[in-house]
Amino acid sequence: MSWSAKQYVTFEDERTRPARDLLAAIPSGAVRSAIDIGCGPGNSTELLVERFADATVRGLDSSTDMIEAARKRLPQVRFDVADIDTWNDTGPFDVIFANAVLQWVPDHATLLPALVSKLAPGGSLAIQMPDNLNQPSHRLMREVAADGPWAGKLAEVAEQRTEMADASAYYSMLKACCTRVDVWRTTYHHPLAGGASGVVEWFKGSGLRPFLEPLDETERTQFLQQYQAAIAQTYPALADGSVLLPFPRLFLVATR
Ligand SMILES: C[S@@+](CC[C@H](N)C(=O)[O-])C[C@H]1O[C@@H](n2cnc3c(N)ncnc32)[C@H](O)[C@@H]1O
Repeated sequence: MSWSAKQYVTFEDERTRPARDLLAAIPSGAVRSAIDIGCGPGNSTELLVERFADATVRGLDSSTDMIEAARKRLPQVRFDVADIDTWNDTGPFDVIFANAVLQWVPDHATLLPALVSKLAPGGSLAIQMPDNLNQPSHRLMREVAADGPWAGKLAEVAEQRTEMADASAYYSMLKACCTRVDVWRTTYHHPLAGGASGVVEWFKGSGLRPFLEPLDETERTQFLQQYQAAIAQTYPALADGSVLLPFPRLFLVATR
């Protein structure tokens, strides 16, 4: 699936806030090397550069469009096009930062301990993932996908996102290889201008991408019209015309 840096940064402030909250929970201590995996356009990497001013900070992402945007934003940082699934750098890193990416990478029971093994002793793996697959926004994507002429093309799309484990399963998975594990869940409420169309714009930069990509131009327009109509019924506009979008996210900070 390809990602568009331009569409993603439309809501950059809102999308970067969880990254700030995640970063704030990493225990203080000397950091010489930090890496931002799934760095996107470099918005989360920029936070690492600010906090760990004396460290070597790097970034990686599987999207060439995102890496190009990140290199423009932070020319002093090394960014690589790489897939987390096959990433074989052994580190050691003092911080591995994964904000809003591991929901796209399968088999967390194998992946998370493998990431911890790339940490130096005392290093931290910091993860944030949207916990929204059961929110109406995502249920409606699946319903529109299953209920249109595109149903055949989109039959397997809903499975691209990794099913999340619950907080206690992640805690156990990480506690087996870490000295300290911090887990929490936050629901942000993002006010989006433009009502239902604001919600659609938001998800065009993330969750809708796999549903739209296989469609031709006409199908894409129809899919978005149907999705927006369904969103308008489920997320009514407030008096000022905006919609308050509830967005739950799960956070994990595991220290080796
Ligand atoms: C929602 S963006 C997050 C960007 C940034 N970390 C932030 O905090 O806003 C998800 C990013 O993960 C990247 N991505 C998805 N699957 C990946 C994989 N298997 N390996 C590396 N990057 C991946 C996408 O290209 C995209 O840039």
